[in-house]
Amino acid sequence: MSFEHPSFGKLDDNRIIIFDTTLRDGEQSPGFSMNIAEKIRMAEALTELGVDVMEAGFPIASPGDFESVKAIAESVGQRDDSPVICGLARTGRDDILRAAEAVKAAPRKRIHIFLSTSPLHMKYKLRMEPDDVLQLAVDSVTLARQFVDDVEWSAEDGTRTDPDFLCRCVEAAIQAGATTINIPDTVGYALPEDMRRIFTMIRERVPGADNVILSTHNHNDLGLAVANTLAAIQAGVRQIEATINGIGERAGNASLEEAIMAIRTRNDAVPFKNNIVSEHILRVSKMLATITGFDVQPNKAIVGRNAFAHEAGIHQDGVLKHAGTYEIMLPESVGWQKSSLVMGKHSGRAAFRDKLKTLGYVIGDNKLNDAFRRFKDLADRKKVVFDEDLVALVDDEVMRDHERIRFVSLDLHAGSKHPAKAVMELEVDGVVKTATSSGNGPVDATFNAIQQIFPHQANLVLFSIGAVTEGTDAQAKTSVRLEEAGKMVDGQGADADTIVSAARAYVHALNKLLVKRLRTEPAALSA
Ligand code: KIV
Ligand code: ZN
Repeated sequence: MSFEHPSFGKLDDNRIIIFDTTLRDGEQSPGFSMNIAEKIRMAEALTELGVDVMEAGFPIASPGDFESVKAIAESVGQRDDSPVICGLARTGRDDILRAAEAVKAAPRKRIHIFLSTSPLHMKYKLRMEPDDVLQLAVDSVTLARQFVDDVEWSAEDGTRTDPDFLCRCVEAAIQAGATTINIPDTVGYALPEDMRRIFTMIRERVPGADNVILSTHNHNDLGLAVANTLAAIQAGVRQIEATINGIGERAGNASLEEAIMAIRTRNDAVPFKNNIVSEHILRVSKMLATITGFDVQPNKAIVGRNAFAHEAGIHQDGVLKHAGTYEIMLPESVGWQKSSLVMGKHSGRAAFRDKLKTLGYVIGDNKLNDAFRRFKDLADRKKVVFDEDLVALVDDEVMRDHERIRFVSLDLHAGSKHPAKAVMELEVDGVVKTATSSGNGPVDATFNAIQQIFPHQANLVLFSIGAVTEGTDAQAKTSVRLEEAGKMVDGQGADADTIVSAARAYVHALNKLLVKRLRTEPAALSA
């Protein structure tokens, strides 16, 4: 590319910028909200994955959103390898000022402004005439440029926008100082041929289009988000917007891991390079699933449990003779490894720390001590401790930063003869409290005991248990969703004892609810 981009300088012609919006568009989907500590963990993992731009949130949406974007700019944003930290804004002055303030601390920062341009959105959502929308685009980009050199402008519902008007808006935004122009397929309506047509048109018709980065942002309502992303690249786009596991509004966004592996595997047809370290993909995918409580479906490309599993005998035979017969990518290239034996109960703290490091966890001494204690406990109870067990255990431990309510112990009496009874100890704000409760089964008794110690109005709306590995002695991993006055939170817990994992998950969700209560209602997320 001939021009100098404010954040990336002069880019090679075949370089694709990877814009991750897991923490913004992804987090926007119901049930996927994360607290600040969780967002920072994800931001660190995304940085190690090698994303170029990280959309950290929508600062005007709520004080919590503002704080998390700011915290990311002040932490991850200071690393030498930090991506550009981006905050989303509508066109209003308050939005832009809030976004500018949130990303301020990051040496490399971006404000991303979006504005609807389709006839439907302008008439019914904005209630504005096209010429006024055009002026708003110019004014908002001009204002944002007073705070940052790197401004992205998005034509919301761009794929359903009148082509002439789209070209006028893009030209005006470029003239006002936008350095990236994004044409979102906001409602997931476009086909790959539409993407080719739209971006070819912009490149041919809009003066200045060669001096900015064109970007694509696709939703998956028709299951075409990744296909549309690839078509857009083939039509000249040099930034793709995507999320881990494809999370996002409604059917989600283009899945980052799928787009990356499609580019890598079919480099003959999509001959572009990027900075993603693909071996980290699985770890980041799993981290997101643990934090949000939503596992990907088993047949999900790249990161699903079955993505590289061969069931049919004829396939197994072929793969044993030559992996290429039925595998188009190496499982290791995205982070899959054979389950490996960890250490026994005699392993020391240093070996434990080393093992965690190879799994991608570097944790402080206090957390390490807690995790080590739980590992010893697990190794006492479980014959074989696998990598997956350690990941579940450490994730469970790390999640518990700054929690007001902590699990201490649980004693259960259950069976088919008597009502179940739970004796529960929780630490609430540093004070250990005990309750004894009965219930219709051990889970009910346990949750009733938590209710006694910490009375609350939340309803349990989802409860699911899975096994971390195989075998009857496998650790259990539980997800719990609580709902209180329309607010939804998810909690996770892992333990060799199924009911203890459920108790940990419930306590985790309760802690998240307390944080959520402190956050004010988010503003409507439309322009
Ligand atoms: O889908 C969309 O239009 C968006 C914009 C904010 C870029 O997410
Ligand atoms: Zn979107």
